[in-house]
Amino acid sequence: MPEVLQPVQMLDFSRQFAGIREEVLAAIEQVCTSQRFILGPAVDSFERAAALACHAPHAVGCASGTDALWLAMAAANIGPGDAVITTPFSFFATASSILRCGAQPLLSDIDPVTFNLSAESVERRIAAHRGSEVKAVIPVHLYGQCADWDAFTSLKQRHGLLLIEDAAQAFGAAWRGTPAGALGDLAAFSFYPTKNLSAFGDAGLVTTLSADLDERARMLRGHGMRRRYYHDEVGWNSRLDSIQAAVLEVKLRHLPRWNEDRRRIAARYDELFRAAGLSAATTSEGVVLPCTDPRATHVFHQYVIRAPRRDAMRQYLTERQIGNEIYYPLPLHLQASLKGLGYKPGDFPISELAAEEVLALPIYPELRDDEQQIVVDAIRSFFA
Ligand SMILES: Cc1ncc(COP(=O)(O)O)c(C=O)c1O
Repeated sequence: MPEVLQPVQMLDFSRQFAGIREEVLAAIEQVCTSQRFILGPAVDSFERAAALACHAPHAVGCASGTDALWLAMAAANIGPGDAVITTPFSFFATASSILRCGAQPLLSDIDPVTFNLSAESVERRIAAHRGSEVKAVIPVHLYGQCADWDAFTSLKQRHGLLLIEDAAQAFGAAWRGTPAGALGDLAAFSFYPTKNLSAFGDAGLVTTLSADLDERARMLRGHGMRRRYYHDEVGWNSRLDSIQAAVLEVKLRHLPRWNEDRRRIAARYDELFRAAGLSAATTSEGVVLPCTDPRATHVFHQYVIRAPRRDAMRQYLTERQIGNEIYYPLPLHLQASLKGLGYKPGDFPISELAAEEVLALPIYPELRDDEQQIVVDAIRSFFA
């Protein structure tokens, strides 16, 4: 008998929209009525709400997460002659934004359990580095789990570095109860439409604990102007659209519940994998489930397993129209465009192995129990 397809989408935002449709449309209508489309009251209001949610004193809306990383570094005067350390296992923008500032990206390997930048490897990188001053470290809160902030705080104290959070995947995440966005000197968020807090287009945010950095980020996002048409520095146009801010402010009100749903769904995946006898400590024995550090509040922007025969599993799921994705298939040090950094295969073995083994499964607040069951059943039948 032919197999009956039971598709499961990686992400279906139409379900989220159905639940908030009236609220969002009313907020958009308000912007249309005001005819203030860039910055203005809607952006001010979202910045205040976002700062409050992150327990950060300052928040600056901007055009994207990529721009937020650039703005954070530019505000901190990071530029030519400086080096910035980050992870090779992240989205491209984490490293490309360092180059865009004119600084030198240095990479360090990740922790094999959380996939986040390892503070120990950063320590070794600093000790081995000669030349440009290491001015900042950018840990990424990958998949929605904060990097080990105890270790990075200790590193900062010993080396006098700036810590910049790449919190693009982690709005609402926390470390020992302190939200992402209030951990580092600065943080960068992305509201790309697939993010756990998402706009209806591109949008981003910088948060900071410092009034000076806030002031500089605001100036730089608007062509370096403090006074209209007087350009103190060469900034950029990275203003946030009012419609995006209005949408984001509505969604922000729902985010705590959505993040709670993501945690519930992740816990249920764990149970289903265990019940199916698929969960294992290593990929030679089965599927390695994501691990949450007890100090972290995870928001499960992604639910990522390590899978044996990952590419074959991926193909099997895709043929059955079951959503899946690889974040990320090629570490940054092996990207063609970053050849100039001088790295080679084997330089970051933990990241390279992760790139071969990780597989993200469908997770979003409205994902149904029966859909999760279909995903896990399909993985069980792959092994059978
Ligand atoms: C870890 C990380 N950093 C930076 C970005 C860049 O954000 P954006 O796509 O909004 O420019 C993303 C998302 O795409 C990301 O996942």
